Amino acid sequence: MTEQLIDSFGRVHNNLRISVTDRCNIRCFYCMPADDVVFMKRSALLSFEEIERFVRVATKLGVNKVRLTGGEPLVRRELDKLVAQIAAIPEILDVGLTTNGILLADQAEALYAAGLRRINISLDALDPVRFKEITRREGYEKVIEGIQAAQQVGFDPVKVNAVTIRGMTEDQVVPFGHFARETGAEIRFIEFMPLDADNAWERDKVLFAHEIIESLNREIMPLVPVGQQDKTAPATEFMFEDGVGRIGFIASVSRPFCESCNRFRLTADGKLRNCLFSLEETDVKTMIRDGGSDDEIAAAIRESVAAKKEGHEINTARFIQPDRPMYSIGG
Ligand code: 5AD
Ligand code: SF4
Repeated sequence: MTEQLIDSFGRVHNNLRISVTDRCNIRCFYCMPADDVVFMKRSALLSFEEIERFVRVATKLGVNKVRLTGGEPLVRRELDKLVAQIAAIPEILDVGLTTNGILLADQAEALYAAGLRRINISLDALDPVRFKEITRREGYEKVIEGIQAAQQVGFDPVKVNAVTIRGMTEDQVVPFGHFARETGAEIRFIEFMPLDADNAWERDKVLFAHEIIESLNREIMPLVPVGQQDKTAPATEFMFEDGVGRIGFIASVSRPFCESCNRFRLTADGKLRNCLFSLEETDVKTMIRDGGSDDEIAAAIRESVAAKKEGHEINTARFIQPDRPMYSIGG
């Protein structure tokens, strides 16, 4: 039997999220600063070969699911090649991608051909003006085209991630409910978390999952929980009671799911993180580049997972926001 990565709270870690770049073609305020972003040097980024090697070592420790993230992963050249390299590893059962969708219409076919099947597209508003307020860039139409292209090419599931921000996205909730019903894409509402580069997060700016459920129940029709949920998935899943339209909630602030977390992360510059909110990380890039053995990399992974804390402390006065904002951690 393969070894498993079990932390001191008994959580089994089979799910690795890999950030392939911190660059992005938009500037969502809850993630990046508006201007003058200092990006990692290209030489600081792990190469596809280095990433593949890391994944191969991780599979020996029980990792069987990988998701590629950014920054915006599709700005990394030839990402489909990396997808193919990872999909070809026999232990990997599942490769996913989280993208902002801007470049997706151009790349959907190549990514599918490379073996990618699961895709999450970030879109917080179904309105170009609101989109621009949030992302500080143009591109709404491109994202909609990206979602359509992903569905046409055959990705399944296609999920849309919408960050929920009080004072900004309340009026998007019902349109997203209709969008889920009309397109068959699952909408996943994600509570705004304190990972913004501007350090402007406040609890009062989080639009909570329960409030969204109430609006959808009232304005469209009641939502019913979907049975047989994957206990390790962060989203709680619902559908409208007539069976049309799936809605998920990632209630990281109001209902943290740390207890069932099965993930850890590799940043684009080769740092291991056992939590989005960790204040510490392990440098595996230096190990990889200085001729470290597979056993040394495996030991670093084991140690990082073993040191994982019980959960984030967003809801306490003790909370300290990590130095790395979302774009440099990887969502
Ligand atoms: N809070 C909640 N979600 C965020 N994302 C990025 N920054 C934040 C934040 N501060 C989302 C992105 C993407 C996913 C990876 O994380 O919109 O969908
Ligand atoms: Fe780019 Fe994603 Fe950050 Fe938005 S949330 S700025 S799309 S990396």
